[in-house]
Amino acid sequence: MSDSQNKDLEKQLVEVLRQNDRGSWTVPAADLYPHQWLWDSCFIAVGLRHIDIVRAQKELTSLLRGQWSNGMLPNMIFVAGKEYSRDREIWRSYLSPYSPNSVATSGITQPPMLAEAVMAVGEKLNKTERRSWYRKMYQPLVRYHEWLYTERDPHNEGLVINLHPYETGLDNSPPWISELRKHSMPWWLIGFERLHLDGVVNMFRRDTRHVPPGQRMSNIEALAYWAALRRLRRKAYNSEAILSRSLFAVQDLTFNSILIRANDCLSTIAAEIKAELPEELVTKFDNSRKALDQLWDDQEGQYFSRSFVSHKLIEEETIATLMPLYSGAVTRERAARLVDIMKKRRRFSLSWPLPSVPLNSHHFDPYKYWQGPTWVNTNWLVIKGLERYGYLEEAKALKDRTIELIEKSGPSEYFNPLSGEPEGAPNFSWTAALTIDLLRQRNH
Ligand code: GLC
Repeated sequence: MSDSQNKDLEKQLVEVLRQNDRGSWTVPAADLYPHQWLWDSCFIAVGLRHIDIVRAQKELTSLLRGQWSNGMLPNMIFVAGKEYSRDREIWRSYLSPYSPNSVATSGITQPPMLAEAVMAVGEKLNKTERRSWYRKMYQPLVRYHEWLYTERDPHNEGLVINLHPYETGLDNSPPWISELRKHSMPWWLIGFERLHLDGVVNMFRRDTRHVPPGQRMSNIEALAYWAALRRLRRKAYNSEAILSRSLFAVQDLTFNSILIRANDCLSTIAAEIKAELPEELVTKFDNSRKALDQLWDDQEGQYFSRSFVSHKLIEEETIATLMPLYSGAVTRERAARLVDIMKKRRRFSLSWPLPSVPLNSHHFDPYKYWQGPTWVNTNWLVIKGLERYGYLEEAKALKDRTIELIEKSGPSEYFNPLSGEPEGAPNFSWTAALTIDLLRQRNH
């Protein structure tokens, strides 16, 4: 690709971000996702920093509007307006004494990408500006990471738990679907499934109005997720109360890999502004790096998510398999094994890598959301991981192929990993933003 082609593509991507801009934050996609999402805004800021650094900072500070007084950062901050009252009512964040008064939010979180995004923005500032930026974001970050450990690592295992699949960002990924079927199918839903009554749900779904139903989760899965959400809501999002009644809690591999990296970023931020992280938190960071080992399955030669309750690994290979590379906390030998898996033809090495579920999995479906399609954010995370472990050629190949994919198919939400065709919402913000980031890395 020539320099001018790079520039044309970047222009097109910047335009997508401009269209999705809502002032101080960006919607993931115009019709399908009208609110602000946590990890989306982090990825968006990573791209925006190349275009407009002040706007990139705003993207991240606007997330703090939603921070709960106990430190939680919610995965969604809702826009005001009557037409969205149903979205807000599904969550009823006001039931929790910790939720903010000024905005309505969800009651769960999403992968902790914020520290990485804050650092990425910091890299573009001069030393004085960077320090003042870090100072501004430091306390909210510390409170968030403290919340993750206090509320979500109740047995002090070093691995935090997720209470709803939406928290992982990989909504309908196979390990969660299998846990859901085991522990979280209400009796009425089993009846619905048997009698094929689930079609009624279409009336309430926004996503299938905008995207072909075959590219989204099934109605049964959507209903089960809603039922799981209602259980959290009933306990006013209090983790202890939820855990006392539910077996549906997972030590998710992607989430914990991202957390470990985020802890490193937060430590770097603290060092740069000469702040002392609370000692207890530093101990927790160290424990997490070691605890990742508990998710390793020697027989299968890979990491898996684990059920919090049974402590059994959930042996489903997905894109999460490659995420420990991003954590930076695995040995070189283990990293080499993961890279081998990534290069296998029947698994991740498809025409348009990396599929969210490997080709040889019985869950693989090239159309369906997080059960096969290729996503740019997970490619970006794996590229970072490959670079960290010195696999520069592999990182470059994945970078080039990802850019080619966007050139060919436009910045969609996800892509068919066999044909490269666009799927999900068109003009998706994080696809645009992260591709800008990949293009800029290519040029410098
Ligand atoms: C979907 C994705 C999630 C993302 C959200 C908004 O639910 O699974 O990761 O944050 O859309 O883009």
